[in-house]
Amino acid sequence: MSTKQILEKFEPRRQNLLMILHALQDNHPQNYLTEEALGETAKHLKLTKSSVYGVAKYYTMFSLKPRGKFVIRVCVSAVCELMKGQEVIGHLENVLGIKSGETTPCGTFTLEIAECLGQCQEAPSMMINEKVFNHLDEQKIREVITEYRKW
Ligand code: FES
Repeated sequence: MSTKQILEKFEPRRQNLLMILHALQDNHPQNYLTEEALGETAKHLKLTKSSVYGVAKYYTMFSLKPRGKFVIRVCVSAVCELMKGQEVIGHLENVLGIKSGETTPCGTFTLEIAECLGQCQEAPSMMINEKVFNHLDEQKIREVITEYRKW
């Protein structure tokens, strides 16, 4: 779907900015917001480009650079930290062969750190795109990544 087609789905009201940015990012195969998308959004909402850029930059769920097809976000907030969240990152880095903040050379996975995912009762937790995974340990991480590699 084109940027124009996505924008046409939303009333040109400022309150729609976050929903528009989500829709545009989700629509891009590399999971990010392009300059063109930010510019078209600004025009649609009659905002300045810098204000739209500022919002996109402020929220960690938005990316201004290309990412993998699957974005893995690992919680490092207090409860997950207590439940060995740092080990989860280490296991993922080993399995994927990249460091946190990087994308695999094949463009399949991006590994990111995130704040609380609202899954504290089930810590440690991560998300892959919109799907949540809880009670993570090395074996579960290997199984999940093996599944995603098949897609
Ligand atoms: S602290 Fe990790 S999900 Fe809440």
